[in-house]
Amino acid sequence: MSVLIRGGRVITAADDFVGDVYAEDERITMIGESLDLQADKVIDATGKYVIPGCIDPHTHLDMPFGGTITADDFESGTISAAFGGTTTHVDFCLQGKGQPFFDALETWHEKRNGKAVIDVGFHLAVTDLQAGGTLEDLARVPDEGVTSYKLFMAYKGAIMVDDETLFRVMHVAADTGALVMVHAEHGDAIDMLVRNALADGNTEPHWHALTRPPETEGEATHRAIQLAHVAGSPLYVVHVSCKDAIDPIAYAREKGWNIWGETCTQYLFIDYTHLERPDFEGAKYVYTPPPRPKEHQQHLWGALKNDVLSVISTDHCSFLWQGQKTLGKDDFSKIPNGGPGIEDRLMMIHHFGVREGRLSLNRMVELLATNPAKLFGLYPRKGTIAPGSDADLVVFDPEKRVTRSASAHHSKCDYNLYEGTEVQGAPEVVLLRGNVLVENDEFVARPGIGQFVKRARFGEQLAPAGRAVAAA
Ligand code: URP
Ligand code: ZN
Ligand code: ZN
Repeated sequence: MSVLIRGGRVITAADDFVGDVYAEDERITMIGESLDLQADKVIDATGKYVIPGCIDPHTHLDMPFGGTITADDFESGTISAAFGGTTTHVDFCLQGKGQPFFDALETWHEKRNGKAVIDVGFHLAVTDLQAGGTLEDLARVPDEGVTSYKLFMAYKGAIMVDDETLFRVMHVAADTGALVMVHAEHGDAIDMLVRNALADGNTEPHWHALTRPPETEGEATHRAIQLAHVAGSPLYVVHVSCKDAIDPIAYAREKGWNIWGETCTQYLFIDYTHLERPDFEGAKYVYTPPPRPKEHQQHLWGALKNDVLSVISTDHCSFLWQGQKTLGKDDFSKIPNGGPGIEDRLMMIHHFGVREGRLSLNRMVELLATNPAKLFGLYPRKGTIAPGSDADLVVFDPEKRVTRSASAHHSKCDYNLYEGTEVQGAPEVVLLRGNVLVENDEFVARPGIGQFVKRARFGEQLAPAGRAVAAA
């Protein structure tokens, strides 16, 4: 199967030129001007952008959490991702209490197998080093292509780990070349604030934010950074939501430490006042960390621009408003934490980031594709447009106007965080390894076409043949 994409504006993190892209047997084999080639499929991309398939390094599909299971499984979640121009995601494989790490990985492979329509990697979320996972097993996990360990410093009594566990895992990572990821919030302080609020009769959704103030995120971010520095492991701070967490990341990066941070689409657009919406609508915005006062958004855009933050992910963790979020109708602490967004990221960032002058097109590609590929051991097989790379490509129409809405999105979620928001610019054709996934607003592939990707270790590259080589 060969594909020729003609005359598009090819945009990578570094380049921007009009040309043709030719792919054969799932890989890009040639890029040039007016290529004189035949192909099984020819796509006219005149007036369109051709960008690398986006990579979402933070998703939760088919995950038990908060007393229920996320609304999207690997089929609905990845179809939704494909419509949004995302062709690879890295999902959190959550270790159950007492569960050995390799059993947890097996469980996640069963969830994905035959369902995913985009390529998939896993992070291992370590929740229990006592009963289930051993340090020896943990050290062997990267051999399976799972090259990042995730730890939750919050959600006390559920998946939170203590500092000793965090520090031990960091030491293992320093030895194995895995990347440590943290959900950084002060879980003990939050637990006490939640109990106090409930004891005072405060049960509405906005108390979710009032009991998780920015300082609790700032403190944990600082703590994780200092511990990773001592242990000698690289650290990636997920879903940074506020200035209090940006500042310690900026400080560490200024010093040249191996510290990285992401924010998520929602923190750039949704603020604290959304949680105050009446009639339990605020519950739609109960995700963690919570939406912050609006002034934090300008700090997030600034940090994305000046490279303090390196990635925008979605943290897609969808729960139905009717039937799942309502578990917390009378107690905000029982509202399952998480929101949808796997499909919206590229369109929202293109419109409000690029069109409104906050980011360049190259920087958008870097934040949504190239940096996630580099940090999570997928580059240069993914995250760029180059000979030898997978033909994961998005033909993006910068003029197409769409309205983000639950009635239009492909997630099973019954609400959209950006309901009614009009954007200009949307994917027109989405290809995974040269296979068309989405065209003419239709999904045209089959469930299961997505493959598991064994990722390289931190600082190593994933060669097109899947072979790990030392970074140049
Ligand atoms: O509220 C969220 N973010 N739910 C998913 C789990 C996490 O903390 O990332
Ligand atoms: Zn988290
Ligand atoms: Zn998450």
